[in-house]
Amino acid sequence: MIEMVWAMDENRLIGKGNKLPWHLPKDLKHFKAVVGTKAVLMGDQTYQSLKSYYQHKPLPFSKIYVATLDDTHYEDAIRIDDLIMFLNTVDEDLMVIGGRTIYQLALPFADRLHITYVLDAYEGDVHFPLFDMSPFGLISSKHDDKLIFTTYERVKQQ
Ligand SMILES: NC(=O)c1ccc[n+]([C@@H]2O[C@H](COP(=O)([O-])OP(=O)(O)OC[C@H]3O[C@@H](n4cnc5c(N)ncnc54)[C@H](OP(=O)(O)O)[C@@H]3O)[C@@H](O)[C@H]2O)c1
Repeated sequence: MIEMVWAMDENRLIGKGNKLPWHLPKDLKHFKAVVGTKAVLMGDQTYQSLKSYYQHKPLPFSKIYVATLDDTHYEDAIRIDDLIMFLNTVDEDLMVIGGRTIYQLALPFADRLHITYVLDAYEGDVHFPLFDMSPFGLISSKHDDKLIFTTYERVKQQ
């Protein structure tokens, strides 16, 4: 199964200066719970961003795939240079964790979406792309102060 997880504000903002626009401990806790022990896929920009948060600690994932068009070597991750081929053939449970470019490319392959709606308007420079939500149905929703944690699943074609 291919899942995606992200948090966005009222204006679909997700990033600022290649970091998160906010510090939301409850959402970080939710993110960790949702990822669990699954392998993660992210773009090179998000990988560099996470590395800046985890300067002296290993990234907290069991297996890491990083999408890049460069020939970068990652000592803690597997490089993916043909993202679409990878998403077409991957046979393990995968959590797509960003950023904008990789979300956009992976959306057609996603079976489940974990979206945190941040009920506020922040400043930043990266927004989640507009996309058609109609193939997805809401499975769960939990409101906690200024956050709504939701899960959607792709509705199976009859
Ligand atoms: N709010 C959230 O939940 C959340 C979560 C994650 C990230 N973010 C934010 O999102 C922003 C980063 O998003 P982004 O779009 O700039 O970067 P990104 O999606 O993390 O990474 C983009 C990189 O992916 C590689 N790439 C692009 N197309 C590819 C393809 N077809 N095949 C293989 N690799 C490909 C390229 O790497 P190379 O340049 O190395 O070739 C490109 O620079 C940051 O601000 C971050 O904080 C927010």
